[in-house]
Amino acid sequence: MERFLARTREFDLGKWEDAIAEVVHERRAFLDTATGNFDKFGRVVKALPKITPSTIDLDARAVTVGQAQDLDDATRAALVSGLETLCPWRKGPFNFFGTLVDSEWQSWMKWDRLASHLPRLEGRKILDIGSSNGYYMFRLAARFPLFVLGLEPQSSFYWQYMGVQKYLNQDNVFCLPVPYQRLPKMDGYFDLVFCMGVLYHRKSPVEMLRQIRDSLAPNGMIVLENLVIQGKNNRCLFPRDRYGKMRNVFFIPDLAVMESWLFRAGFRQIQCVDVSVTSLSEQRKTDWIQTESLKDFLDPKDPCKTVEGYPAPVRALFMARV
Ligand SMILES: C[S@@+](CC[C@H](N)C(=O)[O-])C[C@H]1O[C@@H](n2cnc3c(N)ncnc32)[C@H](O)[C@@H]1O
Repeated sequence: MERFLARTREFDLGKWEDAIAEVVHERRAFLDTATGNFDKFGRVVKALPKITPSTIDLDARAVTVGQAQDLDDATRAALVSGLETLCPWRKGPFNFFGTLVDSEWQSWMKWDRLASHLPRLEGRKILDIGSSNGYYMFRLAARFPLFVLGLEPQSSFYWQYMGVQKYLNQDNVFCLPVPYQRLPKMDGYFDLVFCMGVLYHRKSPVEMLRQIRDSLAPNGMIVLENLVIQGKNNRCLFPRDRYGKMRNVFFIPDLAVMESWLFRAGFRQIQCVDVSVTSLSEQRKTDWIQTESLKDFLDPKDPCKTVEGYPAPVRALFMARV
């Protein structure tokens, strides 16, 4: 966290320096006295063995650090045991010194759907809201942005990011363990904001889109990925209780509603670049997650429906400019 603040001048953070410093210091004080998972996972990451990777590859389906011959058997056993304690690995995959962490999500599939639509990223300031363990931030880092800043409030995912970063050591990738609402208002600052898999968790999606719009520099771009309902009928699903067993899902728009939200939030050049039904090859149970996965969220008699009877998950990818 402090690494980001240390680059204030280079990142042109002057106006927001004090407000960001306040968030960083508050979170540091929290982390230093944390109990529960923040403390437990933090100790695991600190205890991961020090290993210098001979190679790294950020531009591969499995973000890869090091090779098997970079470490001895005892070090490998300590590494694998630490990585296992950091389960569940939802986003990935990652390859740590020859050990494949086969995550629940094959995140490269989403990356492949979006990568060809991205603008040039050299020298850009990028925000990734809900960055999880940083899989997409590391894939973005391969394209030489000025920086990618992630926001990830959930302790296990934040510490997974810290574990990956311990070995990848990318000096233009950062993460703050805070929700988006806690980031100071940084109007006109970012060139690109990623908001993927987050909007349906918000009770006021348009308000969040407005805040993102305000935070973008002239000609800045949002990359928005969200659960949607197929079609353009100006309809929006609001689950009565759970959706796919998730408690915290609010609005699931159809494609027309999503466009209207973006338009009313002030975006232009709105493009839907992909609509994909989430498949059992993209989201599935592996040895690196102990919980249920997509198969358990679908009606066993009709996989076109969730267990609650709603349309099964479909995700759309939108890009739009200010
Ligand atoms: C479904 S995951 C999506 C992760 C990743 N962006 C992707 O597309 O694969 C949602 C992530 O957003 C985080 N999240 C939820 N609400 C958030 C908020 N208000 N601000 C920042 N992150 C949030 C969650 O902790 C979780 O890691």
